[in-house]
Amino acid sequence: MSKFEELRFSWNRLGETDPYWAVLSHRQKKGNRWDPGEFFATGRDEIDGVMRDLTALELDFPRRRALDFGCGVGRLSQALVQHFESVDGVDVSRSMLRLAEEHNRAGDRCRYHLNERRDLSLFDDGCFDFIYSNITLQHIPPDLSKGYLRELLRVTAPGGVLVFQLAERHRFIADARTPLGRALGTLRWAGWLMLRRLYLWWRVRIRREPQMQIYGVTRGQVEGIVHQAGATLVDVQENDSAGPDWTSARYCVATPASGACLPKRRRMTRAAAPPSQAAVGE
Ligand SMILES: C[S@@+](CC[C@H](N)C(=O)[O-])C[C@H]1O[C@@H](n2cnc3c(N)ncnc32)[C@H](O)[C@@H]1O
Repeated sequence: MSKFEELRFSWNRLGETDPYWAVLSHRQKKGNRWDPGEFFATGRDEIDGVMRDLTALELDFPRRRALDFGCGVGRLSQALVQHFESVDGVDVSRSMLRLAEEHNRAGDRCRYHLNERRDLSLFDDGCFDFIYSNITLQHIPPDLSKGYLRELLRVTAPGGVLVFQLAERHRFIADARTPLGRALGTLRWAGWLMLRRLYLWWRVRIRREPQMQIYGVTRGQVEGIVHQAGATLVDVQENDSAGPDWTSARYCVATPASGACLPKRRRMTRAAAPPSQAAVGE
C-alpha cells in the first residue's frame, strides 16, 4: 500500500465510522457525538472570520468561484457558498463526500468532487478566485502536500487569493532554545517518529484500522513554493490548528492580476485560531 493509498483508505474508513469527529477531533465529540447543526455552525464562524481577515488585509478579489480543498463533509464549502457565486469541494474520501452531498443546501452552486489523484488535473489553470484549505494539508505526507500546494497555486486565478493551513514543526524541535537543545530535540523526534511509524504500520497494514497523522512543512519551504509560482505571501498567522504537539500557521497568498505587480506586503501576527483538531488522536 503506497502512502497515498494509506491516506485514501484511512479517510474513507474515518468517513464511514466517525466523520464529524474525524474532521473536528474534540475529545468529547468522539463516537459520533457531534450535533450536525453545531458542527456546521463552526464552519460558518470560521469562514466569516476568514472573510473579515481578508477585508482587513485590503485584499480585493472577485467573488465568483471558490474551492475548498479537502472539503470533508462540506463544513466549510456550505459556509463559502454564502460568500461566492459557486463553490467546488474536493476530497479523497468517498464516504466523506457522500455525507457532504447529503448536507448540501446550495444545489448546483456547490459541487463536490472525488479526486483520487496526486494532482488537481480535474481543474483548469486559474479557474478559482478564492481557495481555502484548513486542517487538510497537515494530514498529507509532505512530498504529496507540497505537490498539492503547487497545484492550488496553479488553479488560483490571476488576482485571486489562496488561504491554507499547514503544520510546521513538532514541539520537540520548535520549543528548543539552543543549538544543543535543537539537536537533542531532533534526536528525540527521530526516535519517536520511528516508533510511531512502526505502530501506524501495524495499525493500518495488519489491523486495517485508519490513522490520522500530522506532517510538517517548514515556512521556508512554503515561501519557496509560493515564490516559484510568482505569487506573494501576504500574511502568515500562527495558530494551534494542528493540536498541542505542533506549531502551525495559516498562510494567505495573493496571485498577481495579469500584468500587475503585487506590493511586497507581509504581516506576521498571532491569530485567534480557527477551530482546531483539538485532540488529534487515533
Ligand atoms: C480533518 S478533515 C478537514 C475537512 C474540512 N477541511 C473541514 O475543516 O471541515 C481532512 C480532510 O482532508 C481530506 N483529505 C486527505 N487527504 C486528501 C487528499 N489527498 N486530497 C483531498 N482531500 C484529502 C480527508 O478526506 C478529510 O476529509
